[in-house]
Amino acid sequence: MVEDAGAEPVPVDPQAYRRAVGRFATGVTVATTFAGQHDHAMTANSITSVSLDPILMLISVERAARWHDAVVESGVWGISVLGQHAKATASWLSTHGRPLHGQLDRVAHHRGAATGVALIDGALAGFECRTTDIHVAGDHSLVVGEVVGLEIPPRIDPALVHFRGRYGHLD
Ligand SMILES: Cc1cc2nc3c(=O)[nH]c(=O)nc-3n(C[C@H](O)[C@H](O)[C@H](O)COP(=O)(O)O)c2cc1C
Repeated sequence: MVEDAGAEPVPVDPQAYRRAVGRFATGVTVATTFAGQHDHAMTANSITSVSLDPILMLISVERAARWHDAVVESGVWGISVLGQHAKATASWLSTHGRPLHGQLDRVAHHRGAATGVALIDGALAGFECRTTDIHVAGDHSLVVGEVVGLEIPPRIDPALVHFRGRYGHLD
């Protein structure tokens, strides 16, 4: 039997759930895609490595987010894993209502060799994915993609992490 650690049960509502899941420390990424002649980018931490054969990743995307329709249209996407220096980028690319066009103007980036999606300069790792499946899950979509390109820079910064609604870093 698991010993009771003394925590009182909490009613499951969206606020309590957000508080609880916020205790799950994660890395921080920027998800990118290209649709309607424009780059689209969004801060995201719901990245999961899914499979090695074939090599698949997934991202859970809020269906109301503008990035959602863009990735559905384009079928290709990039994931840049952020280092601690990129906190301002993470804050900017999670700001609701930021201008859609030119949102990467202030963020140094380059094009991935496999798909041409934007990848953030100085990221700890870069992934390029081609969508294989989209599963509707509540108010989000689980977008699964085959990894068709990788960037692994030799020198890396400490990781940017997200914990209890705040940014920190891990060496
Ligand atoms: C640390 C962090 C992680 C986030 N992870 C996700 C995510 O995995 N999926 C998602 O849909 N939104 C995520 N968001 C929220 C989006 O970044 C935000 O809703 C989006 O950029 C809003 O853009 P829009 O106004 O174009 O819809 C995250 C925000 C932060 C601060």
